[in-house]
Amino acid sequence: MDGGSDRPGTGEWPEDVARTWAAGMERSVRYDHRRWARRIAATLGSARGKVLVDLGSGPGFLPAELAPLLPGCRIIATDASPVMLRLAEERFRDRGLDIGLRRCSADAVPLPAATADVVTAKHLLRLLPDPDAMLAEVLRLLVPGGWFFLVDFDAEAPPWKARAMEAWLRLTGGRAFARIFRESYRDTALVARELPERLRRAGFAEARLAEEGLSFLLVARAPGRE
Ligand SMILES: C[S@@+](CC[C@H](N)C(=O)[O-])C[C@H]1O[C@@H](n2cnc3c(N)ncnc32)[C@H](O)[C@@H]1O
Repeated sequence: MDGGSDRPGTGEWPEDVARTWAAGMERSVRYDHRRWARRIAATLGSARGKVLVDLGSGPGFLPAELAPLLPGCRIIATDASPVMLRLAEERFRDRGLDIGLRRCSADAVPLPAATADVVTAKHLLRLLPDPDAMLAEVLRLLVPGGWFFLVDFDAEAPPWKARAMEAWLRLTGGRAFARIFRESYRDTALVARELPERLRRAGFAEARLAEEGLSFLLVARAPGRE
């Protein structure tokens, strides 16, 4: 759980960083989390009776956007940081959303194997000291044929996109928030085009980039039939 790094985003976030980030992000949720939630829900179709586990949920933006789009789906939000989980809990309570919460590291989720029909992880993989440990945990959690949706930053996106994002975040979330983005993007962004092969090597049956940009969406399936 303790990422062993002072870099914001890895392991446990200090309270001030978490609150700055959550407050700054709030104004981007409708362009960011809501868009990805729609994309995920459209790919899944009905998820009634299914279980979705979101890893590294932070203040719960993605689960809160997914819940109304996936009626009858049991959603569990997880995060390593107690501060983030408190923010998520407040968010779900304020919106009357019935979303479970677990404090855990993304590579050791306290749920039995083959619990999840869907796992989501947005802006988490790139922050982890051992991303392959998280991928193995996703495979352990998923039922055969289960879905994995990964959203993260692409290091190879055109540089103007990162500059435009930084300007937008400065405008909407302030200077400190924009700096968290700049440093995190610079230090941790992944090479998106390498990931499908990496996931197949990790044991996923299918893995394809479904959307490319500053943030990319990778859609993968666990092996076996549902
Ligand atoms: C950049 S935020 C993204 C939050 C959320 N997924 C979103 O897109 O709004 C990264 C989150 O990952 C969490 N985190 C970092 N390392 C973690 C780990 N090893 N296990 C679980 N969560 C972790 C942080 O506490 C933080 O809430």
